[in-house]
Amino acid sequence: MWWRVASLSRFISTTSSRSSSVNQAAYRLNFWQVYTTEILTRAKDGRPSTVKTPFVAFVLGGPGSGKGTQCTKIVESFGFTHLSAGDLLRHAISSNYENSAMILDTIKEGKIVPSEVTVKLIQRAIESSDNYKFLIDGFPRSEENRIAFEKIIGAEPNIVLFFDCPEEEMVKRVLSRNEGRVDDNIDTIKKRLKVFAALNLPVIKHYSERGKVHKINAVGTVDDIFEQVRPVFTAHEKEIE
Ligand code: ADP
Ligand code: C5P
Ligand code: MG
Repeated sequence: MWWRVASLSRFISTTSSRSSSVNQAAYRLNFWQVYTTEILTRAKDGRPSTVKTPFVAFVLGGPGSGKGTQCTKIVESFGFTHLSAGDLLRHAISSNYENSAMILDTIKEGKIVPSEVTVKLIQRAIESSDNYKFLIDGFPRSEENRIAFEKIIGAEPNIVLFFDCPEEEMVKRVLSRNEGRVDDNIDTIKKRLKVFAALNLPVIKHYSERGKVHKINAVGTVDDIFEQVRPVFTAHEKEIE
C-alpha cells in the first residue's frame, strides 16, 4: 500500500526542504486534501497511474432497511471498501477501545455516539485502507455527525444512497436479524426509529437539496433492490473504474 494515506503528523514531523513546503501546505490542508494531494503527488512521481481521486458514498436508511446487505453487493460488483459506522463502533467495544463502555451504553439506548469518536474510527479505517472508493454505511446519522465529518475529514460525499423502507418492514427485519446484537430488541428498535426520524432525515434532506441523494425503494428481494442500486454506480463508472 505505497500510496496509503499520509497522516498530517507525518507531514509535519518531516524536515527535508521539499517536505518543508509540503509542511506549510499541510497546515492549510485538511485530512481529505492531504489524502488526495498525496495520491496525486505519487502519481506525478511516475508511479502507477491507476491511482484515483477518492470517491465516497454515504449509505443511509433506517435500522433494518438493508444498508449492510446492499453494501455487500456493491463491494462485490464495484470493488468499494465498506465501512459500517455501527460495525466500527461494535468493534471498538469488543476490542476495549477507549470509551467502549460509553459506546455500549449509547448503542443499547439507540442513541448517537459523539461524533468525534465515530469520525476518528472512520478516519483510521480510511487511513489503513489502500482503496480509494469507500461506502460509509450508517453515517452521518445526525447533523452533528455530518458537520463533524465535513470539518475533520474536509470532504462531502460524492453520492448519498437512501434506502427508503416502511417502519413495519424494518421492525420485522431487525427482529429476525439474529446476530446477537444488544440493540435488536423491540424496545431499542422503537427508540432507534424515533432517532432516525428526528436526526437522520434532516441529513438526507440536506443532501437532497444538494442533488446528491439517490432514493431506493428498499422493499422487495435483495437482488431486485440491487438492480436499482447498480445504475447509480455505473453512472459514475469513470470515477470508480
Ligand atoms: P441495516 O444494515 O440497514 O440495518 P441489514 O442489511 O443488516 O440492514 O438487514 C437487516 C436484516 O434484513 C438482515 O437480517 C438481512 O438479511 C435482512 N434483509 C436485508 N435486505 C432484505 C430484503 N430486501 N428483504 C428481506 N430481508 C432483507
Ligand atoms: O448502523 P447500525 O444499525 O449498525 O448502528 C447501530 C447503532 O450504532 C446505532 O443505533 C447507534 O447507537 C450507533 N451509531 C452511532 N453513530 C453512527 C452509526 C451508529 O451512534 N453514525
Ligand atoms: Mg447495518
